[in-house]
Amino acid sequence: MRVAVYRSPAQALEAALAWLLERLVHASSGVLAGGRTPLPLYRALRGLRFRTTLVLSDERWLPPGDPGTNLAQVAEALGPQADHLLPFPLGLPPEEAQKRMEVGLEGLLPLGFALLGVGEDGHTASLFPGHPALESPRLAEVVRDSPKPPPLRLTLTPKALATAEEVLFLALGGAKREAVRRLVAGEDLPPRRIAGANALLITDQEV
Ligand code: 6PG
Repeated sequence: MRVAVYRSPAQALEAALAWLLERLVHASSGVLAGGRTPLPLYRALRGLRFRTTLVLSDERWLPPGDPGTNLAQVAEALGPQADHLLPFPLGLPPEEAQKRMEVGLEGLLPLGFALLGVGEDGHTASLFPGHPALESPRLAEVVRDSPKPPPLRLTLTPKALATAEEVLFLALGGAKREAVRRLVAGEDLPPRRIAGANALLITDQEV
């Protein structure tokens, strides 16, 4: 995993946006992270033209339309570009949604790219350190014990995410410093299960 350290969050986001724009030119499918960090990137996509089908890395299993879902937050940032999203089917029982998502994913693999966040504990998507979902042979998994609320989530698995031709992990802010340090030190944290030769970690944390 290559690591690029920038002097400020703004410069790191600028570099991440350049990475994303370059992938959107050609990719037919790509993964967008949930969480707060990447939202300015999604807002910057408004007004652009691209054909990529976008999938969220994971979803917080809340009622459809709940503002706390990744879909609500990402769609709000993307604006009209949210039409590119293939969302997790909120409102269904998790196991049914898992099956539906796997069918949808089949047609999108191999993924063109994956833009993923990093949590303070080193998780990515809803793949948490030591969690059985990391070993799943399926393309999507139900997570019922997420340490990051809400506890119930659906997530793409390393099996799905590792098909991405290029992966970018975005970790900004002092709260992510320890996770970045552990990743750079080579610890077997969830991003390591996804990172191939073309993986890049963009951060503002000197480690
Ligand atoms: C979520 C995300 C999660 C996120 C990281 C980083 O549901 O929150 O899928 O994996 O990307 O926790 O979140 P922040 O960018 O908000 O720090």
